[in-house]
Amino acid sequence: MIIDVLTLFPEMFAALNSSIIKRAFEKGIVKIRIHNFRDYSKKNSRQVDDYSYGGGAGMIQSLQAIVDCLRSIPGYETAHKILTAPVGKVYQQSKAVEFSKLDHLIILCGHYEGIDDRIENFVDEEISVGDYVLSGGEIPAFAIIDSVVRLLPGALGNEESIDIESFDGQLLEYPQYTRPEVFEGHKVPKVLISGDHEKVRKFRRFQSLERTYRRRPDLLAKAELTAEDLKFLEKIKRGERL
Ligand SMILES: C[S@@+](CC[C@H](N)C(=O)[O-])C[C@H]1O[C@@H](n2cnc3c(N)ncnc32)[C@H](O)[C@@H]1O
Repeated sequence: MIIDVLTLFPEMFAALNSSIIKRAFEKGIVKIRIHNFRDYSKKNSRQVDDYSYGGGAGMIQSLQAIVDCLRSIPGYETAHKILTAPVGKVYQQSKAVEFSKLDHLIILCGHYEGIDDRIENFVDEEISVGDYVLSGGEIPAFAIIDSVVRLLPGALGNEESIDIESFDGQLLEYPQYTRPEVFEGHKVPKVLISGDHEKVRKFRRFQSLERTYRRRPDLLAKAELTAEDLKFLEKIKRGERL
């Protein structure tokens, strides 16, 4: 997979050279290219922003340098192009899965007051990473890259797993524990050391449902639930344990 990023702050992506993304790059699973679109400014001053039509505080990024930079990328016509924007569709795991199936993704990072709105004619969709405003699209781009790359076949080693994770089937992941069995008086749930696989499966499913019910009830409405899940949910609503 190829991921191109258009930014005014390429140095912010130095951290991509670590952990799972670095390994995926070294294995040839992903190629990430960072472009400074200031290099494409036709102004002598290399300026890439201007005042807002209609007035108002803050500078708006003009289209010229961004669009020229975009067009310089081989294969940009067929690549999936996204703009990071607080007004975009809120990013979710399902979108990460969708992006991980692409051959080529291009991510545009705005800064200052954002990009001239006519940029929508040059991208496929606008993505927000949540209902808050960051000063630039670099952190959203990083979050998108990380969530996508770890889904690429071969990106994760044996020590990590995407088999069962939060948001799989719309539920939050169950709690997990490691040694020691007791830490400062806090014990690991007994069932997890029982060796009874069926009991462990039921316990984890129950925990997953309970966490989702208490912390993210909005997800439950979209979750794929079995007859057993519905029985568990009845118990959870009555405040009962498994
Ligand atoms: C300061 S923000 C611009 C905010 C814009 N004036 C508004 O109110 O919608 C500058 C850039 O940061 C990025 N950004 C900020 N918050 C974001 C979010 N929640 N999701 C995705 N991108 C974001 C976008 O690329 C945006 O163009």
